[in-house]
Amino acid sequence: MNPYFEIFQAWQPWLGFPRTPPTGTPPALPDELRAAVDPDMLDVFDQMSALSPRMGGMTLRDLLVRHYAWSIPSPEALSAAAHFSGGRILDVGAGNGYWASLLADLGVDVLATDLHPVPNGYMGAAQHYPVQVMDAAEAAAAHPDRTLMMSWPPLDDPMGARALEAYRGDRVIYLGEWGGACGTPALFRALNTEWEHVPSAAAIPRWTGMNDRLVLLNRKRTPDKPR
Ligand SMILES: C[S@@+](CC[C@H](N)C(=O)[O-])C[C@H]1O[C@@H](n2cnc3c(N)ncnc32)[C@H](O)[C@@H]1O
Repeated sequence: MNPYFEIFQAWQPWLGFPRTPPTGTPPALPDELRAAVDPDMLDVFDQMSALSPRMGGMTLRDLLVRHYAWSIPSPEALSAAAHFSGGRILDVGAGNGYWASLLADLGVDVLATDLHPVPNGYMGAAQHYPVQVMDAAEAAAAHPDRTLMMSWPPLDDPMGARALEAYRGDRVIYLGEWGGACGTPALFRALNTEWEHVPSAAAIPRWTGMNDRLVLLNRKRTPDKPR
């Protein structure tokens, strides 16, 4: 079950600025989702949707990101991440654990952690998977045996760079914008210089105007920096 991806796909024809606007109307949001999201945000979505489906589509991201996750977990992206992980993942800044729950469904042993339990400034109250309250750097230092995963490390916040610096393992799964609205220059400098990008990363769906990427990285080993 991956309702986030299914809703995104069903709405896709109405998202963005298609040359030829689709006819018909997008499917209604499921009742359980409507009951769970922030009522003020839902109200904005409903009012915009009443003007036109495309206007509704412009506010859909705000609703779904806070209820599910910031990156959209397509089956292709999930399977690439699961395969690359070697079966054990530490998700830092995991939010409500939506990605963690889907990766666990694929058989991955996922430890999800976040410093701020939901609801927090980024996520609504929904909880999709158990998330341990833990700072990202502390968690990364404690679990070198797991593949480090971070999705949408907060912009201008050293959380992502600190976690990477503390991590002694060999594999990283990065989700989010590469620079752009995520992390700090220090994070991307380290990822670009000390880590090797695995070229076969699967594409990941993108909300209009967003530049999400799924990037899989192996630690570079040099003679002066052996294991
Ligand atoms: C933009 S949200 C992304 C949440 C989730 N990874 C996703 O993609 O849906 C950033 C998350 O980082 C968490 N965070 C911020 N600083 C942190 C820290 N020092 N250690 C662990 N998590 C942190 C926030 O609480 C928030 O849940």
